[in-house]
Amino acid sequence: MDPRRAAVVPRRAASAAEARALVGEEGAAIVSGIADEQAAIAFARAMLGEDLRRVGRQIEASRSAAARDGAIARAQPADARGRRRDLSADTTVPMPPHNDGFAFGDEAPDRLLLLQVRPARTGGENFLLDGLALLGEVPADLRRFAWSVPVDHSEPGFPQSTPSPIARTTPGNRVQVRHHEFLAPVRGAAEVDQWPFLEAWHAAADTARDGGARFRLEAGEMAVVDNYRMLHGRHGYDDPQRLLYSIWGWTTDAVAVPSGDLDFVGV
Ligand SMILES: [Fe+2]
Repeated sequence: MDPRRAAVVPRRAASAAEARALVGEEGAAIVSGIADEQAAIAFARAMLGEDLRRVGRQIEASRSAAARDGAIARAQPADARGRRRDLSADTTVPMPPHNDGFAFGDEAPDRLLLLQVRPARTGGENFLLDGLALLGEVPADLRRFAWSVPVDHSEPGFPQSTPSPIARTTPGNRVQVRHHEFLAPVRGAAEVDQWPFLEAWHAAADTARDGGARFRLEAGEMAVVDNYRMLHGRHGYDDPQRLLYSIWGWTTDAVAVPSGDLDFVGV
C-alpha cells in the first residue's frame, strides 16, 4: 500500500481529440502552445464540443491575488466549527491536494484547465493525484468509509446542506473522489469515530503529494483535468511573477451546472 503511486504525470496530447481521450481514460493530459486565456477556452470548446455546458476562468493563481483575496477572507467570520480560510497561505509551502470548486458541492466543475501563463523561476511544480488510485492505496476500512459515509464538505463561509461521501458514482456515471482541508464529519454522536478516517485520508493525500511524482508546466502549457477524479495542487514557490489561470468547465456529465456567477472569495 503506497499512496505515492497515485501521483500522476499526465501524458502529452497533440490535439483536442487526443486530450479528450486521455482525460477520459487517465484523468488528465498536458497540451502546449496555449497563448492566453481565450486560447485555453477555445481549446476547451474544441475538446468538449456539444458536451460542454459552461466554461470560464475562475481563479488567478498568483502571489498578488492571494494577498488580495487573503485580506478579504481574513475579515470574514469563522464558521460554526471556529474555522477560517487562509487564501493567502504562505506560497512557499505545498498546497493541500484538492478538487477545485469543492465549496460549491454538486456545482463544482467536472473539468479543469490549469494554464501556466508564467511559471515560477524555481519551485511551484504541479502535482496531480488520481483519487481513484489513491483509494486503492489506503486500508480497506478507510476505503469503505470514503465510499459509504456522508461527510460535510463545507468550506468556512460556504455551508453545504447536503452531506455526501468522499467518493461516489454520479448520476452521469462518473467517479468523483474528493479531498480538501475542510472535510469534517456530520455533527453528532458518530463524529468522534469519524475524525480518524478523515485524518488518515489527509495523511494519504499528503504522502502522495510529498513523495509522489511531480511535473513542471512551462509558459503556454496547460493541464486538462478530470476535476471529479483527480486532486491537484502545486509545491512551494516564492516568485512574485508566477501566474497560473484556473479555468473551470462543466459538461453534460456534471452533477449540477451553476447558473450564476461563482464567487469563491466572498465579501
Ligand atoms: Fe486548485
